[in-house]
Amino acid sequence: MAAVVRVMHLAFESPVVFADPFAEKLTTPVWRMISKSRLCYLLGTKLIYPALNPIRRQVLARARYAEDQLEKAVSAGTDQYVIIGAGLDAFALRRPDLARAMDIYELDHPASQRAKQVRLKQLSLNLPPRHYFIPVDFEKKTVGAALAASSFDRSRPAFFSWLGTVHYLSEQAVYTTLESIAGLAHPGSEIVLDYAVSEAYWAAPELKMAKKLKRFTSRRGEVMVSMFDPVSFPETVSRFGYALLENLSLGDQAKRYFTHPDGSPMQMPGSYFAHFRLIKNRTDGHIL
Ligand SMILES: C[S@@+](CC[C@H](N)C(=O)[O-])C[C@H]1O[C@@H](n2cnc3c(N)ncnc32)[C@H](O)[C@@H]1O
Repeated sequence: MAAVVRVMHLAFESPVVFADPFAEKLTTPVWRMISKSRLCYLLGTKLIYPALNPIRRQVLARARYAEDQLEKAVSAGTDQYVIIGAGLDAFALRRPDLARAMDIYELDHPASQRAKQVRLKQLSLNLPPRHYFIPVDFEKKTVGAALAASSFDRSRPAFFSWLGTVHYLSEQAVYTTLESIAGLAHPGSEIVLDYAVSEAYWAAPELKMAKKLKRFTSRRGEVMVSMFDPVSFPETVSRFGYALLENLSLGDQAKRYFTHPDGSPMQMPGSYFAHFRLIKNRTDGHIL
């Protein structure tokens, strides 16, 4: 669905916040047809699912936010990129300027990853030489353990993105994942993730929208389970050795990426974007 959002955005919306010309190739033929049809776009966004428009905006904003931060990290010398819960993310194809000089690790549920690999093969799309697929179920194995068994280099900082995935994992799996990264990655590594905030932080129309989205994703086999308090979540994460760089609220996301022509922020749903830097490795105590 995130890829479908990206196809429609590039085809029918402006200004373009996140341009992903590979999304239409990677999605299924049926979804490609639907998402390239102006009629379907208008029906979906104006008539059938207008309540989901803020969520579409957030899917685009989170991808743009992560890549804005990644670009800064790359300029500072980071050359390992770990995409957790990659889905149909096409970074490795979309950004040859950055991808050719980086080690890229895509971690995803084995079923999602298999489907993507089949699609890439059907399309004869070649990935850069230092691109690696790692299948992993985050409820069963940690990101740290999965990376430790790969060519991931613990002695160089890495950038991690973890988008649209935390929502589907138990609170325990989220903290265990962050702790495992802190036990493996080199200090100076960074992570960007989006997480649903507790209902107390939602306005009434957003809650209605959240319930619709939950029903929508549950029917498709992915159940949204976790919500965090935006004050205590970063505090807990910082105990693993991270420093919070940014915790982007709904209003801040809109101001940065989605404003009305008069400059006022558009409505965004209840997920914050967090950006952390690892300052202390949990295993060897190495400090930045
Ligand atoms: C909504 S998609 C997000 C994809 C991509 N990051 C994006 O923003 O477009 C959610 C992703 O989480 C992954 N996921 C959900 N539960 C998982 C689990 N238990 N283990 C591994 N991956 C999981 C799915 O396979 C899927 O790729």
